Amino acid sequence: MNSAELRRSFLDFFKSKSHTIEPSASLLPTAPNLLFTNAGMNPFVPYFLDERPAPHPRIANTQKCIRAGGKHNDLEDVGFDGTHHTFFEMLGNWSFGDYFKRDAIAWAWELLTHVWKFPKERLYATVYKPGPGEPANFDQEAFNYWKSIFEQDGLDPAVHICTGGKQDNFWMMGETGPCGPCSEIHVDLTPKGDTHGRLVNQDAAECLEIWNLVFIQFNAEPNGTLEPLPMRHVDTGMGLERVAGIFAATRNFTHFSQKPSNYTSDLFSDLFAAITDLSGKRYGGSLPKDRMQLSTEELNDCAFRVLADHTRALCIAISDGILPGNEGRHYVLRRILRRALLFGKRLNLPDGALSKLAEPIIEKLSSVFPELRTQRTAIAKVLHAEEQTFARTLDRGLQLIDTITAKSNQLSGEKAFTLYDTYGFPIDLTQLIARERGLHLDLNGFYRALQAQRARAQAAHKKTAVSRADPSRQDDPTPFVGYDEAALIDCEAHLIDIVVQEHGRALIFDKTPFYAEMGGQIGDSGTAHCDTAKPITIRITHTKRDASGRALHHLAEDELHNLEIGQPIRLCVDLARRRAIERHHSATHIIHWALREVLGTHIRQAGSIVTDHHLRFDYTHYEAPSPKQLATIEKHINEHILANTPVSWYEVPFDKKPDNCLALFGEKYGAIVRVVNIGGYSLELCAGTHVQATGAIGFCKILSENAVAAGTRRIEAVAGMSGFALVETQHKQLHSLARKLSCTPEQLDARLDTLLAQRTSLEKRLKRFQEASLSQQAETLADTAKTHNGLQWVVTQATVDTPEALRSLAVKISQNLSKGIVILGAVCGDKATLLAICSEAAIAAGYRAGDYIKRICAELGGKGGGKPDFAMGGAQDTHRLREVLSHYPPP
Ligand code: SER
Repeated sequence: MNSAELRRSFLDFFKSKSHTIEPSASLLPTAPNLLFTNAGMNPFVPYFLDERPAPHPRIANTQKCIRAGGKHNDLEDVGFDGTHHTFFEMLGNWSFGDYFKRDAIAWAWELLTHVWKFPKERLYATVYKPGPGEPANFDQEAFNYWKSIFEQDGLDPAVHICTGGKQDNFWMMGETGPCGPCSEIHVDLTPKGDTHGRLVNQDAAECLEIWNLVFIQFNAEPNGTLEPLPMRHVDTGMGLERVAGIFAATRNFTHFSQKPSNYTSDLFSDLFAAITDLSGKRYGGSLPKDRMQLSTEELNDCAFRVLADHTRALCIAISDGILPGNEGRHYVLRRILRRALLFGKRLNLPDGALSKLAEPIIEKLSSVFPELRTQRTAIAKVLHAEEQTFARTLDRGLQLIDTITAKSNQLSGEKAFTLYDTYGFPIDLTQLIARERGLHLDLNGFYRALQAQRARAQAAHKKTAVSRADPSRQDDPTPFVGYDEAALIDCEAHLIDIVVQEHGRALIFDKTPFYAEMGGQIGDSGTAHCDTAKPITIRITHTKRDASGRALHHLAEDELHNLEIGQPIRLCVDLARRRAIERHHSATHIIHWALREVLGTHIRQAGSIVTDHHLRFDYTHYEAPSPKQLATIEKHINEHILANTPVSWYEVPFDKKPDNCLALFGEKYGAIVRVVNIGGYSLELCAGTHVQATGAIGFCKILSENAVAAGTRRIEAVAGMSGFALVETQHKQLHSLARKLSCTPEQLDARLDTLLAQRTSLEKRLKRFQEASLSQQAETLADTAKTHNGLQWVVTQATVDTPEALRSLAVKISQNLSKGIVILGAVCGDKATLLAICSEAAIAAGYRAGDYIKRICAELGGKGGGKPDFAMGGAQDTHRLREVLSHYPPP
C-alpha cells in the first residue's frame, strides 16, 4: 500500500466503525502555549475539557502536525535518522466520552493485522506502569484487553506486552492540558523478527512505535495536579510517514532485510527526484553511523532528508498562513528554512531551488490539504523571498566562520551571537556547522549574550494555563445586553459590586449595555443614574473586563455618592461614541474582506484595535502591497460601504459555524459563537458591536500601510466622522496652500513643479555667484599677503557665512600664493570658525596649520586642530576674533 491508500484505508476503516471523517485542522493551534498544532488532539482540547460539546462522538482524521521548537521538538534530529520529521501527518481516531480502551485496542489490532496484514508475531503492545512518584495506577484494564487479544492469536502476552513509565506511556500535550496513560503498538522489523520485545522503547531503528492509543482521563492543572475529567476519551495517533515507510521498506511485509526509514515511501520519492533534477545528485538512503563524522555519502543523504522534510513543513505552514519571521512560531519556521538552505548548499542547489521544490509537494498533498493549491503563489513567493534574504548573509557568515576557525578551533559565544544577530544564523545552524567542523562552540556564552533579548521576549510572552473552569466560582461574567438598541439609552440594572482598581474604582452591575473592551474593540463610556431622593449622575469613562468576564465600569471621579450594593441604577451608553466605534469595527471587517479579495486568501488577521476615532488592522502578508493594490483595496471598501448592505449577526454552536466564516487563530472560543455577516461576503466570528447597514460607516480612508514585523503588516484607517474630519482638515490645508501659492487647489501640483524647478535654477545661479564672489575676495586677500621668513602670509577675518565658504575661500587664497600660509577666521552664525592652510614650503620651514589653529582657538576659549597642511576649529568668543588674529604672523 502506498501513502494515499493507507490514509484512505485508515479513514474508511474507522468510517465503518461509525466515525465521522473530518478534515485536518490548521497548523495554527487553537490550544494555548503551542507554537504549532503538534498532535492530532490539539484541536479537540475543548471537547476533552467539556468546554464545548463534541460535534460527533467519534471522529477520524489525518491531522497536519509540526514538532519543532516546543515540548515536542524533533528539529535537531531531522535528517540524521529515518524516523524524525518536523512536519508529519497524524492519523487518528477519537472518542469523545464514547468508546474507551476495549474498542480502541480491539480496532487498532483489527486494522493492523486483519486489514493491513502486519505480521502479528512482530507486534508488541506497551501499557502504563508508573515508576516511583509517577502519577496514576498500573493500567490493568488495557493490560487485560491486550492479554486476551494476544492469547486469542496464539501469542504469549508475557512476551508481547511490555510496560513503561511516565516517560513512555503517559501522554501529555504540554505542561498543562488533557492527558492520560497510553498504550503503544510497536513493530519488530529486524530481519528475523525474533527480538521478543527486547528492542521496545530502546530507540532502535528496527523496532518502531507505530501507533499510540491515549486514554484521556485527566487534565494536568497548572499546580501540577492531575484532575480527573468528567468523561473519558480516546485519542490515537499514528504517523502516516512512518507506516508508509514500513510498507515501502518491507515491500508490504515480504522483505525485512532493508533498514526501515520513513523516507523510503512514495511521500518522498517525487520530492527526492526533484532534488536530483536540481542538484544532479542522488539519494542513496544511507543513515549516519556517527553523527559527528559523516561520510560524503551520508552527508548527501542527510541533506536530501532535511530538504525534503523541511520544505514540506514550510509549504504546509505557509498554506496555513504561518510565515517565517522573527518571533515565536515564525522564527521556528525561519530556522527550519535556513537549515534547509544550509543543507541545500551541500548539494550545490542553485538559487531559488527551495521554491521549486514546493511543486511536487503541492502535487502530492493538495488532494488532502487543498489549501496547498489555493496558496500556491503565496508559498512560492514567501520561499523565494526568504531564500534571497538569507543567501545574502549565508556566504558572509560562512566566511566569518572560516576566518575565526583559521586561527583556532574555538567558536566563542560572542561570535556565535554575532552570527545570530548580524548574519541571521539560528544557533542550531551554528551548532550544526561547529559539529561538522569539529569546533568547540561556547553555547553558554551565546546564551549569556542572548539573555537580554530573551528576558524581553519572556516578559512579552504571557503563558496561558489550560485549566478547567471552576464550577464553584462566584464571579459570573456580566451579561451583556448592549446589542439591543433600546438597552443602550436606558437599561435598568443593579449594582452588585464595587472594586478598587489601580486607577480608581469600578462598578459591577448584574447586567450591562456597556461593551467591555474585548477582541480589539475599545470599551463603552456613558453615564449611570441613581433616582435617589437627590438624583445623581455618575460618569463612566471606560469599560473593561476582568479575568472572570465581569464588566468593570470605571468612574470618572473617585466619588461614590453613597452608592449601595443592590441599588437600582439606570445605565446609559454614550451613543455617539458607540456609533463611531461600530463604524470602525464594521469597517475593519470590510478591510479584512478586501485584503483577502485583492491580496489572496492566505491573509490572516494578526490583531486589531477599534476605537471611536480610528482603527488598526494587523494582517499576515509576505510583501508590501503595491500602491495600485492599496488603491483597489480602498476602492473596494468604499464601494461596499456605499452599497449599504445590511449587517446581521446570529449565534451558533462553534462547530456549526459556516465553513467560510473567518475566526481568529489562537483565540479560545466558547460553545456558542456569534457570526457577523456583512452581505454574505464577510462572515467573521466576532463578539463586537456593528453598524446595522454598511452605509452607516459613511466613508473609510486608509491612513497608512506598513510592516510591523517580518510577514506581518498593519493598516491604519479612519471611518465615519473621523474620516470626514481628516478630509476636512486636509481640504483646508490644500486651500490654504493654494492661497499661499496664488493658484487653485487643482493647479497646486503644476505650481509646485514650477516653483521647485525655479528653486533649483536659482540655487545653481546663487552657487555660481558665490563662487565668483569668493574668487574675487580670494584674489584681493592674496594681494594683501605679507612676506615673512620667505613665506607669504595672509592672516585676516573674512566675511563669509559658513565654514564651507571659509574653507573654499582659504583654498582659493592659497592657490594664489606660491609659498603661503593662510589663517582665516569668520563669524559663522554665533560662533567663530578658524582655519589654517600651510603650503609645503611653510611646512618645510617648520610651520604647522594644526598648531596655529590649536593656539588661536585656545586663546578664544575654543577648540581646534588638524594636520600640518590643513586645520580647522571653532570658538564661542566672536568679539575677540579680530584682535587675536592680529597677533599672527609674528611681526
Ligand atoms: N496524542 C498522542 C500523540 O500525539 C496520540 O495521538 O502521540
